[in-house]
Amino acid sequence: MLQAVDDLPAVDFASKAYRMQPFPILADYARRWKVARSVRGVEIFDYELCRASILDRRLGTGHPKLMEVLGLPEGPALDYKSKSISFYNRGERRRNLRRPIVKLLGDKASERFRRDIRRIVADAVESLPTDRPIDLIASLCDKIPSSLYCYWVNAPETDWEFIARTSHIVQQVHTRDSSRTREIVQGFEELLSYIDHRIEDRRSDPGSDLISDLIREADAGNLSDDDLRNWIVKLAEANTDNSSHQIGIAIIELASRPETWARLSRNPSLAPAAVREVMRYRPRSISTSREALADMEMAGCAVPKGTPVFANFGAAHWNAAYYPEPERFDIDRPAQPAHLNFGGGVFSCVGRYVVTIEVEETIALLATSFPNLRLEKAGFDHSPMFTSVTDLVAELDPS
Ligand code: HEM
Repeated sequence: MLQAVDDLPAVDFASKAYRMQPFPILADYARRWKVARSVRGVEIFDYELCRASILDRRLGTGHPKLMEVLGLPEGPALDYKSKSISFYNRGERRRNLRRPIVKLLGDKASERFRRDIRRIVADAVESLPTDRPIDLIASLCDKIPSSLYCYWVNAPETDWEFIARTSHIVQQVHTRDSSRTREIVQGFEELLSYIDHRIEDRRSDPGSDLISDLIREADAGNLSDDDLRNWIVKLAEANTDNSSHQIGIAIIELASRPETWARLSRNPSLAPAAVREVMRYRPRSISTSREALADMEMAGCAVPKGTPVFANFGAAHWNAAYYPEPERFDIDRPAQPAHLNFGGGVFSCVGRYVVTIEVEETIALLATSFPNLRLEKAGFDHSPMFTSVTDLVAELDPS
């Protein structure tokens, strides 16, 4: 006999304890249940079930429902959203839409940006004072991914603040808080008009940047003009906000452990393993959303069509059955099982390789240049969806 969703154990993400320290709470949930229910839908806590669910053909995109929850009004923002990749379920249209971007931002393709990412990181670090405490959120964590975006769209580097600000605003869609809808709509409208200008500018004078590569894909008939524009907006939308928080999380987790920081200072080639453990221990993405496309069964529960389902990566990453002593931060952990910070399958994050390079390069440069870096103030907030950095003040060279 299958359980009904209403009979699943109920969990609460609204408590202060959860917002401060969600992972021990999620570890406890994962020890007790494979699935549970929260106010937003069904929560999956088991690692294997999370992995299977993000690939499961019976689970589709949760974005249309998200727009309903927000009450996004008719207009350019909803029009963009409903035509962008986020609204497409599995199938040929989704595959065709992703193909050009996956080719340009795949594993090996992203490596071509490493040299320029290193330069962007070095320029951002060089502009910081080293002899007094400095707020690194805007001056470093925001600046690196948004400068990379400016480089991709061949915009003046001074546009980075606009790119960072609008990305932070539009990513608030994931709060599911309709009091933010007006601000989100305005953020999208500003971004859409900015990007229309960038495309116009680059069409008349193409180069060797990402935007020109995408324009060439459109000219070759692999993307429509709408798809081209929607991808460039999507990259701005998803890039800075997530990447900035993940860079900040990595700095805090690594610099607050003097032995680990000293190892990284002596041997920066440990940065990829260190970043991997950061993304397991405190992922930026605590969950990703799906929706049941048909009535289905999951871990002995009958999940009706239309039910929102959340693969809870935070619980999966702190599940002792898969990661022994999950509360222990250990950069020497084996690479498998792989963390789920970037989701998977045909919905997986298209920026995962490039942002991993950004975080690795930032950590390697900071650890080797500032072995004594001291955190003056560091703090996190956690929602059911995300880890966010609320404070990050550091003195780079206290000596
Ligand atoms: C550390 C930073 C980032 C994290 C943690 C992150 C995480 C995610 C996650 C969890 C998903 C959904 C995957 C799924 O549901 O299976 C996603 C989707 C996406 N991400 Fe990222 N992301 C990050 C940075 C970026 C960057 C830098 C870009 C662009 C350059 C990007 C572009 C996208 C896009 C376009 C999608 C939608 C893909 C689709 O629907 O096909 N992300 N990301």
